[in-house]
Amino acid sequence: MNLFNVYPRFNITLSKAEGVYVYDENDESYLDLYGGHGVNSVGHSHSIYTQRLKEQIDRIAFYSNSIEMPLQEELARKLSSQSGYPNYNLFLCNSGAEANENAIKLASFSTDRKKVVAFKGSFHGRTSAALNVTDNVSLSASVNQNNFPVDFIELNNKGQLVDALKKKDVCAVIVEGIQGVGGLDSLSEDYFSFLEQNCKEHGALLILDEIQSGFGRSGKFFAHQYANIEADIITMAKGMGNGFPIGGLLINPKIKAKNGMLGTTFGGNHLACTASIAVLEIIQKESLLNNVKQINKHLLKELKQFNDIKEIKGKGLMLGIEFDFPVKEMRINLLSKYHIFTGASANPNLLRILPPLGITVKEIAPFISALKEILS
Ligand SMILES: Cc1ncc(COP(=O)(O)O)c(C=O)c1O
Repeated sequence: MNLFNVYPRFNITLSKAEGVYVYDENDESYLDLYGGHGVNSVGHSHSIYTQRLKEQIDRIAFYSNSIEMPLQEELARKLSSQSGYPNYNLFLCNSGAEANENAIKLASFSTDRKKVVAFKGSFHGRTSAALNVTDNVSLSASVNQNNFPVDFIELNNKGQLVDALKKKDVCAVIVEGIQGVGGLDSLSEDYFSFLEQNCKEHGALLILDEIQSGFGRSGKFFAHQYANIEADIITMAKGMGNGFPIGGLLINPKIKAKNGMLGTTFGGNHLACTASIAVLEIIQKESLLNNVKQINKHLLKELKQFNDIKEIKGKGLMLGIEFDFPVKEMRINLLSKYHIFTGASANPNLLRILPPLGITVKEIAPFISALKEILS
């Protein structure tokens, strides 16, 4: 049997990983500044993380949501104290797309409306509702398109937002904390406030997709918290499980739960909760949010020396380094010659970096040295 071939792949096979490094089958090390699409948050094979998962798998790995789930409660308690949303409720699922799918469904249930406002350049996942609010028709099959009305508006355009909301038929506005796949653009702090206020005025729920930008990646627990606003539903995945598949929604308590409203077989299973509890414990124990801010400062200072860099987008350790030429060759060079993984985005001139949140100045230094050689 062959694999269904949908991924362009690098010709590298990884056999182990530790901290910010991954190793191929010849034991060659690579600096991981991409974390497998921003998933690796607390470092590869962190001892607390692996220990917890090993202990859990020996006890019980899975049972469905038909029994009491103290691990879900423990995860909810930890999120209460670390997320800045102490009174919200938690629903657990398995991936980012599924989190957004549930968020849109919940907004429609709770407002009894079906139009959604999304932003140009957005990426919210590959299931049907998530694709319908993703600004890239090439990813959709006809069954995915127009299953509910969506207005795509420009980032930071106040007039378009008001126009889209004024008929009071919008169930939700969905926006990424920082756009990931789209190229690291985001709403201004002022616009975030305007958005929060206008959603309230027009009875639409504000869904913040923090799947890539959340769980500390921006230097705050969620990127939108730089704007001091509150969303109605926050969606999470990627860094939440440090590689163990888990997604989740934080839900404003004004949205009332009802039996059967949402559901999943695997969501919130014992192993997934254990992984996420370990991630939160490590974030706190190692003050990773502070580290993200410090390494961000250091990187911004170091990157100033390169005249070829046009702009640095993003926050914390979710950064897009924009050049005025395509970066494809540079990425291949970084990987093959310097053994450094980086990411791409919809913007061909942008190098995307999403390293583990605990990366140190020393560990990131080879990246700066490599850029010096490449750009000289
Ligand atoms: C902002 C954002 N939302 C949603 C998703 C979809 O997540 P998943 O691939 O886990 O379904 C992604 C994945 O890249 C993302 O970056």
